[in-house]
Amino acid sequence: MIPLSLADIAAVVDGQQSDIPDPDAQVTGPVVIDSREVADGSLFAAFAGERADGHDFARAAVEAGAVAVLATRPVGVPAVVVDDVTRALGALARYAVERLGTQVVALTGSAGKTSTKDLIAQLLERLGPTVWTPGSLNNEIGLPLTALRAEAGTRHLVLEMGARGIGHIRYLAELTPPRIGVVLNVGTAHIGEFGGREQIAVAKGELVEALPPAGEDGDESGGVAVLNADDPLVRAMSERTRARVLLFGEAAEAHVRAENVRLNEQGRPTFTLQTPTGCGDVTMRLYGEHHVSNALAAAAVAHELGMPAGDIATALSAAGSLSRWRMEVTERADGVTVVNDAYNANPESTRAALRALAAMGRGRRTWAVLGEMAELGDESLAEHDAVGRLAVRLNVSKLVAVGGQEAVWLDMGAKNEGSWGEESVHVSDAEAAVELLRSELRPGDVVLVKASRSVGLERVADALVEGGTNEGEVAARWV
Ligand SMILES: Nc1ncnc2c1ncn2[C@@H]1O[C@H](COP(=O)(O)OP(=O)(O)OP(=O)(O)O)[C@@H](O)[C@H]1O
Ligand SMILES: [Mg+2]
Repeated sequence: MIPLSLADIAAVVDGQQSDIPDPDAQVTGPVVIDSREVADGSLFAAFAGERADGHDFARAAVEAGAVAVLATRPVGVPAVVVDDVTRALGALARYAVERLGTQVVALTGSAGKTSTKDLIAQLLERLGPTVWTPGSLNNEIGLPLTALRAEAGTRHLVLEMGARGIGHIRYLAELTPPRIGVVLNVGTAHIGEFGGREQIAVAKGELVEALPPAGEDGDESGGVAVLNADDPLVRAMSERTRARVLLFGEAAEAHVRAENVRLNEQGRPTFTLQTPTGCGDVTMRLYGEHHVSNALAAAAVAHELGMPAGDIATALSAAGSLSRWRMEVTERADGVTVVNDAYNANPESTRAALRALAAMGRGRRTWAVLGEMAELGDESLAEHDAVGRLAVRLNVSKLVAVGGQEAVWLDMGAKNEGSWGEESVHVSDAEAAVELLRSELRPGDVVLVKASRSVGLERVADALVEGGTNEGEVAARWV
């Protein structure tokens, strides 16, 4: 972060200095909320969680090198005391980003934020120093913590923005005002909390409302709204922004398009990227066709920042996964391939994952270990049934449906679509799935593991890959 004195910090966050012998002492970062991550020069932000209260670790943080603590009460060591630590972090991030003048690219959507953010980061890194959200830290705490990692040389700040209600994205966009705002899709994630898809669109669209107006030609400070042309609710957001609109997708009107999309025999998408200034061939290293849309969004951002189409295509073809459990492929020594996509699931990504499994598993036995796709409301039965049927239509050798009612629907869909009832089996929990797979897997089989986050099916994948080697750099660069 930019070095700031404790006096500066107190002024920015409107806080009281407490037990501070030297107000000129400099915080150089990082700002952390876990006292074990404190380094020399840190600011430790104390939060009271369910199980632990950060204030109890204030002394340990300072002993470990923190210059001070951001707290809601005096803690016996140097502290800036505020009413609300979250708000204070936000104010600090806003101040730092404004001072640095770093170009902010923000993205939101119901699914694919982290995957796309990781792609954008890998493209923009080629243009200049880039800081991006680690993992999915996309809320009112994670976003300022990420923004505060930007330094004097940072050219781009790529920020994932999440929302669980109206006003959340507006708040995040005030903290780190983006010049480029990307909206990926409006799906059904958290639909219950929002009260319908239209409400989700209202919430996600706050991002494009926050963008600055379009500049003159060649003006590098004008706002740009990067919108998915294939999603009607996202496309309609072009009416809600003063920024210039750049569309991506497979639709003919999209400015950044994919043509000749197909999955290769490894389940990886290949396509021809078309941008307003040129084209290039892409073969992704990520698995599943849902990444085409994510790749186009990333390409649109890179195009906007001046990257030639050929370079974008090369960078997209080289980009790996920086975050775990998203189509993470591990080859076991005995030739069994495990595809861990257990981070989350919705109908669209589950269909994409099944198609990738079918492509990867040509000539091999394929297993789809699936669990509940959560938050589908009234559509739940129909969607689980349809996914079960698709598994059979794609000739997946065996569906293992794990869990309660939703798994029963998956299993029934597959059995109704199949002919002998052997296409699918229902088991009650992850342990039972592991037991079944351990006894039945044979060398050469391919196993896909996928369900919503709440199901925690990575336990199955983890149990299956013990001792396997996964694509090294995936894990190594995971943050
Ligand atoms: N473009 C897409 N369309 C639909 N589903 C997608 C898309 N991209 C990724 N997914 C699915 O969504 C899951 C989560 O992906 P990712 O972590 O990138 O999304 P996210 O929006 O960051 O999620 P979260 O809200 O949990 O932060 C992946 O496992 C994948 O199955
Ligand atoms: Mg995420």
